[in-house]
Amino acid sequence: MSGVNITSVLQETRKFPPAKEFSATAHVKSEAEYDELWWKAKDDPTGFWGSMSQNLDWFEPFDTVLEGEMPNTKWFVGGRLNASYNCVDRHLKTWRKNKAAIIWEGEPGDTRVLTYQDLHRETCKFANVLKSLGVQSGDRVTIYMPLVPEIIVAMLACARIGAVHSIIFGGFSADAVAERNNDAQAKVVITADGGWRRGKEVELKHAVDESLEKSHTVQQVVVLRRTGTPITMVPGRDHWWHDLMAEASPECEPASLDSEHPLFILYTSGSTGKPKGVLHTTAGYTLGTMMTSKWVFDLNDTDTYWCTADVGWITGHSYVCYGPLANGATVMMYEGAPNWPHDGRFWEIIEKYKVTIFYTAPTAIRSFIRWGDEWPNKHDLTSLRLLGSVGEPINPEAWMWYHKVIGGERCPIVDTWWQTETGSIMISPLPGATTTKPGSCTRPLPGVVPDIVTKEGESLPDNAGGLLVMRQPWPSMLRTLYNDHERFLKTYFSEIPGCYFAGDGARRDEDGCYWVMGRVDDVLNVSGHRLSTMEVESALVSHPLVAEAAVVGFPHEIKGEGICCFVSLTTGEGDDALKQQLKDHVRKQIGALASPDMIRFSNALPKTRSGKIMRRLLRDIAAGRERVQDTTTLEDYGVLAKLRASEE
Ligand code: WT7
Repeated sequence: MSGVNITSVLQETRKFPPAKEFSATAHVKSEAEYDELWWKAKDDPTGFWGSMSQNLDWFEPFDTVLEGEMPNTKWFVGGRLNASYNCVDRHLKTWRKNKAAIIWEGEPGDTRVLTYQDLHRETCKFANVLKSLGVQSGDRVTIYMPLVPEIIVAMLACARIGAVHSIIFGGFSADAVAERNNDAQAKVVITADGGWRRGKEVELKHAVDESLEKSHTVQQVVVLRRTGTPITMVPGRDHWWHDLMAEASPECEPASLDSEHPLFILYTSGSTGKPKGVLHTTAGYTLGTMMTSKWVFDLNDTDTYWCTADVGWITGHSYVCYGPLANGATVMMYEGAPNWPHDGRFWEIIEKYKVTIFYTAPTAIRSFIRWGDEWPNKHDLTSLRLLGSVGEPINPEAWMWYHKVIGGERCPIVDTWWQTETGSIMISPLPGATTTKPGSCTRPLPGVVPDIVTKEGESLPDNAGGLLVMRQPWPSMLRTLYNDHERFLKTYFSEIPGCYFAGDGARRDEDGCYWVMGRVDDVLNVSGHRLSTMEVESALVSHPLVAEAAVVGFPHEIKGEGICCFVSLTTGEGDDALKQQLKDHVRKQIGALASPDMIRFSNALPKTRSGKIMRRLLRDIAAGRERVQDTTTLEDYGVLAKLRASEE
């Protein structure tokens, strides 16, 4: 593992204390209030989480708050509840029953509003549809849909009957769907004919048809009509959403589920080829996302809250669906691309719906900057009161632009650090309490006890770069990797004794603020999406002309990291046509998000004597750095010169 003793080169001294007017009405109003909460949770975690758990509605109370130690922990043992009940039903007993739960806009401009009552009816009906298709508690259901309200309905319907959803982002290819279906042994796939993205149709049903040639556990497919494009319906297997819903009863008792009942699996890339099925459970996850939504986004009933993430990523699971809905919030959803039909689409939406909270990713912010201030400047963005960022470190200049141009120097920015595995936000400012610093995710949330350590697990002093770990368990942490508990133990709990470690390097400054420096392994972070270099490599090698491939990231102005592929061929020389062919090939295998930015042909790759590819050397070359690090283990020095000459 590289990256220990990381040197931080970022020098940033600007500070932004919370505005008095914001703090006055915030859920957490001051640094002192935050400190009190944090220390209470640190000193008495079970007392703290026990009292927080009262924010959920329980069918049966639990006996024990926390059982076991990391990595094998159980939360709220013996309790019974239902996540869909907590996100929907309980609001029907209040004035919120006719409050907008979801305000949705499609890319073509069509709009819909679902109140909590609407959401309840649709969820119950679809839960009955799932039952009629033979889905039982514990069965896995794949969801592969565009960003339409029905994706939330499908999730909540699964949760209602105890089925475990596995959402696959609509940008993934048929092969990726097949691999995930097989790993999860999915029984049913919920999809749509297609979705809209930049005016073009993403053909989801075609991909499902192709995937089902390679995955044989799926018995039924439900298809939502979204685009109206002609598709093939296989009799006995494929059903239209609207046909099934027309018959379904609007009443469905929520299943009374154990606290630790699996809620969902979400596949995320690891450093080896096979994606990891991160598994989250009912009580801890729902509580974690609910409390963090309230603390970090300071959610109120008057807010119109917009998290731009697709529901196919953890950000969408936690902060489009479960967290905000558990709070009874109004959630904005937009199906399409930010630059369609023009580069100001997001700002137009904020003005039109008077969005108050806006949560997006640094990669998007870098695109907005490139498209120009004239786009946001055309719109009235004064409804905004809070901005958020997630997915990768936000560079201070992007932070300042976000603060000035979008936030009008008025909105606090919450830079939220967390992971698919953590389930909910771990380190982030609380907008009414924390003094923010551009580029820092600041301080841990109540119940979160991070540290910066050496490889041996020893704490490092302030400002020393090291490994970011968690020293105490928290309710929304992953419980296992589906079907691979060994890999779970090895990946997160074997590197640093007694701690949770998921691969980031960071430092903590003299104010206790954390500065995350990125991943210390070989995983790429492209546009805020984690991709495994190995996955891209294996996609390349599956092409008949490719002998070997090594994939590294390089600094990319928009995407954060771009994908650079060093490829050696089985025969002949590469040319531009082959480069294009390989890019298309990777696209088909994994999806558009893994499309290589740079392909470089070389007849050899730098390797150690034991045959391991030396990626750090390739990273230097991809970034155009002359300086090459330690090459003593390199097998063949001549290779480096040849690689430098292989420019795109
Ligand atoms: C990795 C997790 C969590 C939702 C999106 C990505 C990086 C995430 C930040 C941040 C610096 C960040 C880390 C982390 N990351 N947020 N605010 N500052 N880095 O989820 O795909 O599980 O990726 O994203 O490297 O480990 P994910």
